[in-house]
Amino acid sequence: MQQLEIIGGQPLTGKIKIGGAKNSVVAIVPATILADAPVTITNVPKISDIEALGEILTFLGAKIERTNNTIIVDPTGIINQEIPEGIAKKLRASYYFMGALLGKYKRAEVYFPGGCPIGPRPIDLHLKGFKKLGATVKADHNKYIIDAKELIGNTIYLDIASVGATVNIMLAAVRAKGLTVIENAAKEPEIVNIATFLNNMGAKISGAGTSVIKIMGVNQLNGGFHEVIPDRIEAGTYLIIGALLGHNMRIENIIPLHLESLISKLSEAGVKVKVGRDYLIINKAKCLKSINIKTLVYPGFPTDLQQPLATLLTQCQGISTIEETIYEDRFNNIPYLNKMGADIKINQTKATIKGPTNLKGAKVKATDLRAGASLIIGGLIAEGKTTVTDINHVLRGYEQIVEKLTKLGAKIRIN
Ligand code: EPZ
Repeated sequence: MQQLEIIGGQPLTGKIKIGGAKNSVVAIVPATILADAPVTITNVPKISDIEALGEILTFLGAKIERTNNTIIVDPTGIINQEIPEGIAKKLRASYYFMGALLGKYKRAEVYFPGGCPIGPRPIDLHLKGFKKLGATVKADHNKYIIDAKELIGNTIYLDIASVGATVNIMLAAVRAKGLTVIENAAKEPEIVNIATFLNNMGAKISGAGTSVIKIMGVNQLNGGFHEVIPDRIEAGTYLIIGALLGHNMRIENIIPLHLESLISKLSEAGVKVKVGRDYLIINKAKCLKSINIKTLVYPGFPTDLQQPLATLLTQCQGISTIEETIYEDRFNNIPYLNKMGADIKINQTKATIKGPTNLKGAKVKATDLRAGASLIIGGLIAEGKTTVTDINHVLRGYEQIVEKLTKLGAKIRIN
Protein backbone atom coordinates (compact mmCIF):
# COMPACT_ATOMS: atom_id res chain seq x y z
CA MET A 1 0.00 0.00 0.00
CA GLN A 2 1.30 3.45 -0.91
CA GLN A 3 2.06 5.94 1.85
CA LEU A 4 2.74 9.66 2.16
CA GLU A 5 5.58 11.28 4.07
CA ILE A 6 5.00 14.86 5.22
CA ILE A 7 7.32 17.28 7.04
CA GLY A 8 5.04 19.71 8.84
CA GLY A 9 5.12 23.44 9.42
CA GLN A 10 5.78 24.69 5.90
CA PRO A 11 3.95 27.92 4.98
CA LEU A 12 1.81 27.38 1.87
CA THR A 13 1.48 30.03 -0.81
CA GLY A 14 0.63 30.35 -4.49
CA LYS A 15 -2.39 29.05 -6.36
CA ILE A 16 -4.05 25.73 -7.11
CA LYS A 17 -6.89 24.82 -9.47
CA ILE A 18 -9.76 22.70 -8.17
CA GLY A 19 -10.76 19.72 -10.30
CA GLY A 20 -14.17 18.38 -11.30
CA ALA A 21 -16.51 17.09 -8.61
CA LYS A 22 -15.93 13.41 -7.79
CA ASN A 23 -19.48 12.95 -6.52
CA SER A 24 -20.90 14.34 -9.74
CA VAL A 25 -18.69 12.56 -12.25
CA VAL A 26 -19.01 9.14 -10.56
CA ALA A 27 -22.70 9.28 -11.51
CA ILE A 28 -22.25 10.94 -14.90
CA VAL A 29 -19.83 8.26 -16.18
CA PRO A 30 -22.28 5.36 -15.58
CA ALA A 31 -25.13 7.55 -16.86
CA THR A 32 -23.50 7.64 -20.32
CA ILE A 33 -24.96 4.10 -20.75
CA LEU A 34 -28.38 5.75 -21.17
CA ALA A 35 -27.26 7.56 -24.36
CA ASP A 36 -27.66 6.14 -27.86
CA ALA A 37 -24.62 8.05 -29.14
CA PRO A 38 -21.16 9.15 -27.90
CA VAL A 39 -21.01 11.56 -24.96
CA THR A 40 -18.23 14.09 -24.20
CA ILE A 41 -17.55 15.04 -20.58
CA THR A 42 -15.07 17.80 -19.64
CA ASN A 43 -13.46 18.86 -16.35
CA VAL A 44 -13.17 15.18 -15.34
CA PRO A 45 -10.74 14.88 -12.38
CA LYS A 46 -7.77 12.49 -12.56
CA ILE A 47 -8.81 10.26 -9.64
CA SER A 48 -8.79 6.50 -9.32
CA ASP A 49 -12.58 6.24 -8.97
CA ILE A 50 -12.90 7.36 -12.59
CA GLU A 51 -10.46 4.66 -13.71
CA ALA A 52 -12.51 2.05 -11.85
CA LEU A 53 -15.76 3.23 -13.46
CA GLY A 54 -14.04 3.29 -16.87
CA GLU A 55 -12.99 -0.33 -16.29
CA ILE A 56 -16.63 -1.30 -15.72
CA LEU A 57 -17.84 0.59 -18.82
CA THR A 58 -15.11 -1.01 -20.96
CA PHE A 59 -16.00 -4.43 -19.54
CA LEU A 60 -19.59 -3.83 -20.70
CA GLY A 61 -18.38 -2.97 -24.21
CA ALA A 62 -18.28 0.83 -24.23
CA LYS A 63 -15.40 2.65 -25.91
CA ILE A 64 -13.66 5.32 -23.82
CA GLU A 65 -11.17 7.93 -24.98
CA ARG A 66 -9.47 10.16 -22.43
CA THR A 67 -7.33 13.22 -23.14
CA ASN A 68 -6.33 15.15 -20.03
CA ASN A 69 -9.55 16.15 -18.29
CA THR A 70 -11.92 15.21 -21.10
CA ILE A 71 -13.42 11.79 -21.72
CA ILE A 72 -15.51 10.65 -24.65
CA VAL A 73 -17.70 7.61 -23.98
CA ASP A 74 -19.24 5.71 -26.89
CA PRO A 75 -21.89 3.47 -25.30
CA THR A 76 -23.23 2.07 -28.56
CA GLY A 77 -21.26 -1.18 -28.28
CA ILE A 78 -22.48 -2.03 -24.76
CA ILE A 79 -23.88 -5.52 -24.12
CA ASN A 80 -25.80 -5.65 -20.84
CA GLN A 81 -24.31 -8.32 -18.55
CA GLU A 82 -23.39 -9.01 -14.94
CA ILE A 83 -20.74 -6.65 -13.59
CA PRO A 84 -18.11 -8.81 -11.85
CA GLU A 85 -17.73 -8.42 -8.09
CA GLY A 86 -14.03 -7.59 -8.31
CA ILE A 87 -14.53 -4.34 -10.18
CA ALA A 88 -17.94 -3.45 -8.73
CA LYS A 89 -16.57 -3.61 -5.20
CA LYS A 90 -13.87 -1.02 -5.86
CA LEU A 91 -16.21 1.85 -5.19
CA ARG A 92 -19.65 2.56 -3.81
CA ALA A 93 -20.64 4.57 -6.88
CA SER A 94 -20.73 1.33 -8.91
CA TYR A 95 -24.33 1.19 -7.70
CA TYR A 96 -25.16 3.89 -10.29
CA PHE A 97 -24.81 1.14 -12.92
CA MET A 98 -28.01 -0.31 -11.40
CA GLY A 99 -30.08 2.75 -12.32
CA ALA A 100 -28.34 3.25 -15.68
CA LEU A 101 -28.60 -0.39 -16.86
CA LEU A 102 -32.16 -0.70 -15.55
CA GLY A 103 -33.11 2.59 -17.22
CA LYS A 104 -31.62 1.56 -20.57
CA TYR A 105 -32.07 -2.24 -20.73
CA LYS A 106 -34.73 -2.88 -18.02
CA ARG A 107 -32.27 -5.24 -16.30
CA ALA A 108 -29.20 -4.87 -14.08
CA GLU A 109 -26.99 -7.43 -12.33
CA VAL A 110 -24.66 -5.55 -9.97
CA TYR A 111 -22.82 -6.56 -6.81
CA PHE A 112 -23.35 -4.86 -3.44
CA PRO A 113 -21.44 -1.52 -3.52
CA GLY A 114 -18.08 -1.03 -1.90
CA GLY A 115 -17.20 2.37 -0.44
CA CYS A 116 -15.66 3.98 2.64
CA PRO A 117 -16.14 2.25 6.04
CA ILE A 118 -18.12 5.13 7.60
CA GLY A 119 -21.11 3.16 8.80
CA PRO A 120 -23.51 0.69 7.21
CA ARG A 121 -24.11 1.89 3.67
CA PRO A 122 -27.59 0.47 2.89
CA ILE A 123 -29.22 1.04 -0.50
CA ASP A 124 -32.78 0.22 0.56
CA LEU A 125 -34.06 3.58 -0.76
CA HIS A 126 -32.50 2.98 -4.18
CA LEU A 127 -34.23 -0.40 -4.37
CA LYS A 128 -37.52 1.05 -3.10
CA GLY A 129 -37.37 3.52 -6.00
CA PHE A 130 -36.68 0.83 -8.59
CA LYS A 131 -39.60 -1.26 -7.28
CA LYS A 132 -41.93 1.79 -7.39
CA LEU A 133 -41.03 2.10 -11.08
CA GLY A 134 -42.14 -1.51 -11.66
CA ALA A 135 -38.91 -3.47 -11.24
CA THR A 136 -38.43 -6.66 -9.22
CA VAL A 137 -35.31 -6.87 -7.08
CA LYS A 138 -33.63 -10.17 -6.11
CA ALA A 139 -30.56 -10.47 -3.91
CA ASP A 140 -28.52 -13.45 -5.14
CA HIS A 141 -25.62 -14.09 -2.74
CA ASN A 142 -23.96 -10.68 -2.74
CA LYS A 143 -25.36 -9.20 -5.89
CA TYR A 144 -28.66 -7.63 -6.97
CA ILE A 145 -30.64 -8.77 -9.98
CA ILE A 146 -33.09 -6.02 -10.94
CA ASP A 147 -35.61 -6.68 -13.69
CA ALA A 148 -38.58 -4.87 -15.22
CA LYS A 149 -40.93 -5.74 -18.12
CA GLU A 150 -41.40 -2.00 -18.43
CA LEU A 151 -40.67 1.00 -16.21
CA ILE A 152 -43.68 3.19 -15.42
CA GLY A 153 -43.32 6.63 -13.85
CA ASN A 154 -44.45 6.90 -10.22
CA THR A 155 -44.21 9.12 -7.14
CA ILE A 156 -41.38 8.07 -4.81
CA TYR A 157 -40.93 9.51 -1.32
CA LEU A 158 -37.41 9.20 0.10
CA ASP A 159 -37.41 8.59 3.88
CA ILE A 160 -33.90 10.16 3.87
CA ALA A 161 -32.83 12.82 1.36
CA SER A 162 -30.27 10.36 0.03
CA VAL A 163 -27.87 11.63 -2.66
CA GLY A 164 -27.32 8.17 -4.12
CA ALA A 165 -30.97 7.16 -4.11
CA THR A 166 -32.02 10.47 -5.71
CA VAL A 167 -29.50 10.01 -8.52
CA ASN A 168 -30.14 6.29 -9.07
CA ILE A 169 -33.90 6.80 -9.30
CA MET A 170 -33.35 9.66 -11.80
CA LEU A 171 -31.21 7.33 -13.94
CA ALA A 172 -33.86 4.60 -13.89
CA ALA A 173 -36.71 7.05 -14.57
CA VAL A 174 -35.37 9.14 -17.50
CA ARG A 175 -36.55 6.55 -20.08
CA ALA A 176 -39.55 5.23 -18.12
CA LYS A 177 -43.10 5.69 -19.39
CA GLY A 178 -44.74 8.82 -17.97
CA LEU A 179 -43.98 11.07 -14.99
CA THR A 180 -41.81 10.21 -11.99
CA VAL A 181 -41.79 12.52 -8.97
CA ILE A 182 -39.08 12.15 -6.33
CA GLU A 183 -40.17 13.72 -3.06
CA ASN A 184 -37.70 14.65 -0.30
CA ALA A 185 -35.00 14.46 -2.96
CA ALA A 186 -31.39 15.39 -2.09
CA LYS A 187 -30.52 18.99 -3.08
CA GLU A 188 -26.74 18.74 -3.38
CA PRO A 189 -25.15 20.72 -6.27
CA GLU A 190 -23.97 17.42 -7.76
CA ILE A 191 -27.63 16.42 -8.25
CA VAL A 192 -28.19 19.57 -10.32
CA ASN A 193 -25.04 18.84 -12.34
CA ILE A 194 -26.17 15.28 -13.08
CA ALA A 195 -29.71 16.39 -14.00
CA THR A 196 -28.26 19.05 -16.34
CA PHE A 197 -26.10 16.37 -17.98
CA LEU A 198 -29.15 14.14 -18.55
CA ASN A 199 -31.17 17.09 -19.90
CA ASN A 200 -28.29 17.93 -22.27
CA MET A 201 -28.80 14.40 -23.67
CA GLY A 202 -32.54 14.98 -24.11
CA ALA A 203 -34.03 14.01 -20.75
CA LYS A 204 -36.88 16.00 -19.27
CA ILE A 205 -35.96 16.66 -15.62
CA SER A 206 -37.12 19.65 -13.60
CA GLY A 207 -36.74 20.67 -9.96
CA ALA A 208 -33.18 19.38 -9.44
CA GLY A 209 -31.70 21.26 -6.48
CA THR A 210 -35.08 21.34 -4.74
CA SER A 211 -36.69 18.59 -2.67
CA VAL A 212 -39.14 17.70 -5.48
CA ILE A 213 -37.67 16.45 -8.76
CA LYS A 214 -39.92 15.66 -11.73
CA ILE A 215 -38.77 13.37 -14.54
CA MET A 216 -40.93 12.99 -17.67
CA GLY A 217 -39.75 9.80 -19.40
CA VAL A 218 -38.44 10.01 -22.99
CA ASN A 219 -37.81 7.23 -25.52
CA GLN A 220 -34.26 8.06 -26.33
CA LEU A 221 -31.26 10.00 -25.05
CA ASN A 222 -28.81 11.41 -27.59
CA GLY A 223 -25.11 12.01 -27.19
CA GLY A 224 -24.12 15.27 -25.66
CA PHE A 225 -21.48 17.51 -24.22
CA HIS A 226 -21.20 18.26 -20.51
CA GLU A 227 -18.92 20.00 -18.03
CA VAL A 228 -18.49 18.66 -14.49
CA ILE A 229 -18.85 21.31 -11.77
CA PRO A 230 -15.86 22.06 -9.51
CA ASP A 231 -15.41 19.75 -6.52
CA ARG A 232 -16.68 21.68 -3.47
CA ILE A 233 -15.21 19.11 -1.08
CA GLU A 234 -11.74 19.27 -2.62
CA ALA A 235 -12.00 23.08 -2.54
CA GLY A 236 -13.17 23.02 1.09
CA THR A 237 -10.27 20.77 2.06
CA TYR A 238 -7.75 23.24 0.60
CA LEU A 239 -9.59 26.14 2.24
CA ILE A 240 -9.11 24.46 5.62
CA ILE A 241 -5.42 23.90 4.82
CA GLY A 242 -5.11 27.60 3.87
CA ALA A 243 -6.72 28.67 7.16
CA LEU A 244 -3.93 26.81 8.95
CA LEU A 245 -0.88 27.48 6.76
CA GLY A 246 -1.85 29.83 3.93
CA HIS A 247 0.01 32.99 2.89
CA ASN A 248 -2.14 34.54 0.16
CA MET A 249 -3.09 31.05 -0.96
CA ARG A 250 -5.38 31.27 -4.00
CA ILE A 251 -7.88 28.48 -4.73
CA GLU A 252 -9.17 28.73 -8.30
CA ASN A 253 -12.05 27.19 -10.30
CA ILE A 254 -14.63 27.10 -7.51
CA ILE A 255 -18.32 28.03 -7.12
CA PRO A 256 -18.43 30.16 -3.92
CA LEU A 257 -22.13 29.41 -3.32
CA HIS A 258 -21.28 25.70 -2.88
CA LEU A 259 -18.87 26.55 -0.05
CA GLU A 260 -21.13 28.94 1.85
CA SER A 261 -21.52 26.78 4.97
CA LEU A 262 -17.76 26.19 5.35
CA ILE A 263 -16.87 29.83 4.66
CA SER A 264 -19.39 30.96 7.25
CA LYS A 265 -18.07 28.52 9.90
CA LEU A 266 -14.46 29.48 9.16
CA SER A 267 -15.27 33.17 9.57
CA GLU A 268 -16.97 32.32 12.88
CA ALA A 269 -13.60 30.80 13.88
CA GLY A 270 -11.86 34.05 12.95
CA VAL A 271 -10.63 33.11 9.47
CA LYS A 272 -10.79 35.79 6.78
CA VAL A 273 -11.64 34.42 3.34
CA LYS A 274 -11.54 36.73 0.28
CA VAL A 275 -14.31 35.49 -2.01
CA GLY A 276 -13.89 36.16 -5.74
CA ARG A 277 -16.21 35.25 -8.64
CA ASP A 278 -14.60 31.83 -9.10
CA TYR A 279 -11.71 31.85 -6.63
CA LEU A 280 -10.89 32.27 -2.93
CA ILE A 281 -7.86 33.83 -1.27
CA ILE A 282 -7.04 32.58 2.22
CA ASN A 283 -4.46 33.46 4.86
CA LYS A 284 -3.49 31.57 7.98
CA ALA A 285 -5.61 32.80 10.88
CA LYS A 286 -3.70 34.55 13.65
CA CYS A 287 -5.90 33.02 16.30
CA LEU A 288 -8.64 30.42 15.83
CA LYS A 289 -11.78 30.57 17.95
CA SER A 290 -13.61 27.37 18.91
CA ILE A 291 -16.83 26.60 16.95
CA ASN A 292 -19.57 23.98 16.88
CA ILE A 293 -20.35 21.99 13.73
CA LYS A 294 -23.43 19.92 12.92
CA THR A 295 -23.41 18.05 9.61
CA LEU A 296 -26.61 18.25 7.57
CA VAL A 297 -27.79 17.64 4.03
CA TYR A 298 -27.11 20.48 1.58
CA PRO A 299 -27.09 23.44 2.07
CA GLY A 300 -26.13 22.51 5.64
CA PHE A 301 -22.53 21.79 6.64
CA PRO A 302 -21.35 18.85 4.48
CA THR A 303 -20.51 15.57 6.23
CA ASP A 304 -17.58 15.15 3.80
CA LEU A 305 -15.82 18.17 5.32
CA GLN A 306 -16.24 17.40 9.04
CA GLN A 307 -13.19 15.11 9.11
CA PRO A 308 -10.82 17.61 7.41
CA LEU A 309 -12.22 20.38 9.64
CA ALA A 310 -11.66 18.32 12.81
CA THR A 311 -7.92 18.82 12.31
CA LEU A 312 -8.38 22.61 12.21
CA LEU A 313 -10.53 22.46 15.37
CA THR A 314 -7.57 20.95 17.27
CA GLN A 315 -5.92 24.37 16.80
CA CYS A 316 -8.88 26.44 18.05
CA GLN A 317 -8.81 28.10 21.49
CA GLY A 318 -11.24 26.25 23.78
CA ILE A 319 -13.80 23.50 23.24
CA SER A 320 -15.21 22.82 19.74
CA THR A 321 -17.76 20.14 18.89
CA ILE A 322 -18.73 18.14 15.82
CA GLU A 323 -22.11 16.44 15.61
CA GLU A 324 -22.30 13.97 12.69
CA THR A 325 -25.94 13.43 11.71
CA ILE A 326 -25.50 11.72 8.31
CA TYR A 327 -23.33 8.68 9.11
CA GLU A 328 -23.12 6.44 12.16
CA ASP A 329 -19.38 6.02 12.23
CA ARG A 330 -17.43 8.83 10.62
CA PHE A 331 -14.77 9.57 13.28
CA ASN A 332 -12.11 7.03 12.27
CA ASN A 333 -9.59 9.86 11.83
CA ILE A 334 -9.84 10.88 15.48
CA PRO A 335 -7.81 8.12 17.17
CA TYR A 336 -4.96 9.02 14.81
CA LEU A 337 -5.30 12.76 15.46
CA ASN A 338 -5.11 11.93 19.19
CA LYS A 339 -2.01 9.82 18.49
CA MET A 340 -0.50 13.02 17.04
CA GLY A 341 -1.30 14.92 20.24
CA ALA A 342 -4.88 16.13 19.76
CA ASP A 343 -7.35 16.01 22.66
CA ILE A 344 -10.62 14.74 21.19
CA LYS A 345 -13.32 12.70 22.89
CA ILE A 346 -16.03 10.82 20.99
CA ASN A 347 -19.48 10.13 22.38
CA GLN A 348 -21.50 8.23 19.72
CA THR A 349 -22.06 10.75 16.93
CA LYS A 350 -20.55 13.70 18.79
CA ALA A 351 -16.87 14.67 19.04
CA THR A 352 -15.55 17.20 21.56
CA ILE A 353 -12.25 18.82 20.67
CA LYS A 354 -10.11 20.68 23.19
CA GLY A 355 -7.56 23.10 21.75
CA PRO A 356 -5.14 24.33 20.88
CA THR A 357 -2.87 21.24 21.01
CA ASN A 358 0.56 20.92 19.40
CA LEU A 359 0.44 18.04 16.96
CA LYS A 360 3.56 15.92 16.56
CA GLY A 361 4.39 13.87 13.48
CA ALA A 362 3.46 10.17 13.74
CA LYS A 363 2.65 7.11 11.66
CA VAL A 364 -1.08 7.16 10.95
CA LYS A 365 -3.51 5.33 8.66
CA ALA A 366 -6.03 6.67 6.17
CA THR A 367 -9.07 4.54 7.02
CA ASP A 368 -11.28 6.28 4.46
CA LEU A 369 -11.15 9.09 1.92
CA ARG A 370 -11.92 12.10 4.11
CA ALA A 371 -10.22 10.65 7.20
CA GLY A 372 -7.10 10.49 5.02
CA ALA A 373 -7.52 14.15 4.15
CA SER A 374 -7.85 14.99 7.85
CA LEU A 375 -4.56 13.20 8.62
CA ILE A 376 -2.72 14.81 5.70
CA ILE A 377 -3.77 18.18 7.13
CA GLY A 378 -2.52 16.96 10.52
CA GLY A 379 0.82 16.11 8.96
CA LEU A 380 1.04 19.51 7.26
CA ILE A 381 0.73 21.33 10.62
CA ALA A 382 2.48 18.82 12.91
CA GLU A 383 6.02 19.18 14.16
CA GLY A 384 8.35 16.74 12.41
CA LYS A 385 7.53 13.88 10.05
CA THR A 386 4.15 12.22 9.56
CA THR A 387 3.63 9.05 7.58
CA VAL A 388 0.10 8.43 6.27
CA THR A 389 -0.40 4.84 5.10
CA ASP A 390 -3.19 3.36 2.94
CA ILE A 391 -3.42 6.53 0.89
CA ASN A 392 -5.13 4.67 -1.95
CA HIS A 393 -8.31 5.83 -0.19
CA VAL A 394 -7.20 9.46 -0.61
CA LEU A 395 -6.15 9.09 -4.25
CA ARG A 396 -9.73 7.93 -5.01
CA GLY A 397 -11.06 11.43 -4.42
CA TYR A 398 -8.30 14.06 -4.40
CA GLU A 399 -6.83 14.77 -7.83
CA GLN A 400 -2.99 15.06 -7.83
CA ILE A 401 -2.98 15.99 -4.13
CA VAL A 402 0.80 15.50 -3.76
CA GLU A 403 1.52 17.68 -6.83
CA LYS A 404 -0.92 20.39 -5.70
CA LEU A 405 0.43 20.54 -2.13
CA THR A 406 4.05 20.47 -3.35
CA LYS A 407 3.28 23.39 -5.69
CA LEU A 408 2.04 25.34 -2.64
CA GLY A 409 5.31 24.66 -0.79
CA ALA A 410 4.48 21.58 1.27
CA LYS A 411 7.19 19.02 1.99
CA ILE A 412 5.27 15.90 0.97
CA ARG A 413 6.18 12.81 -1.02
CA ILE A 414 4.56 9.53 -1.96
CA ASN A 415 6.39 6.20 -1.62
C1 EPZ B 1 -22.94 10.42 -1.28
O1 EPZ B 1 -22.95 9.15 -0.69
C2 EPZ B 1 -21.47 10.77 -1.43
N1 EPZ B 1 -20.83 9.76 -2.27
C3 EPZ B 1 -20.80 10.79 -0.06
O2 EPZ B 1 -19.47 11.21 -0.26
C4 EPZ B 1 -21.51 11.81 0.81
O3 EPZ B 1 -20.96 11.76 2.11
C5 EPZ B 1 -23.00 11.49 0.89
O4 EPZ B 1 -23.56 11.42 -0.44
C6 EPZ B 1 -23.78 12.51 1.68
O5 EPZ B 1 -23.61 13.78 1.10
C7 EPZ B 1 -21.02 9.82 -3.61
O6 EPZ B 1 -21.73 10.67 -4.10
C8 EPZ B 1 -20.33 8.78 -4.42
P1 EPZ B 1 -26.53 9.15 0.98
P2 EPZ B 1 -24.34 8.32 -0.61
O7 EPZ B 1 -27.28 8.14 0.21
O8 EPZ B 1 -25.14 8.59 -1.80
C9 EPZ B 1 -28.37 6.52 4.46
C10 EPZ B 1 -17.15 11.17 -0.05
O9 EPZ B 1 -16.44 11.30 0.95
N2 EPZ B 1 -29.02 5.76 3.38
O10 EPZ B 1 -26.91 10.59 0.89
O11 EPZ B 1 -24.02 6.94 -0.26
C11 EPZ B 1 -26.87 6.32 4.46
O12 EPZ B 1 -26.53 5.16 5.20
C12 EPZ B 1 -18.39 10.30 0.04
O13 EPZ B 1 -16.98 11.73 -1.16
C13 EPZ B 1 -29.95 4.79 3.70
O14 EPZ B 1 -30.25 4.55 4.86
O15 EPZ B 1 -25.00 9.04 0.65
C14 EPZ B 1 -26.37 7.57 5.14
O16 EPZ B 1 -26.46 7.39 6.54
C15 EPZ B 1 -18.54 9.61 1.38
N3 EPZ B 1 -30.54 4.09 2.69
C16 EPZ B 1 -27.38 8.64 4.69
O17 EPZ B 1 -28.53 7.93 4.22
C17 EPZ B 1 -30.25 4.32 1.38
O18 EPZ B 1 -30.83 3.66 0.49
C18 EPZ B 1 -26.89 9.52 3.55
O19 EPZ B 1 -26.51 8.67 2.51
C19 EPZ B 1 -29.28 5.30 1.07
C20 EPZ B 1 -28.68 6.02 2.08
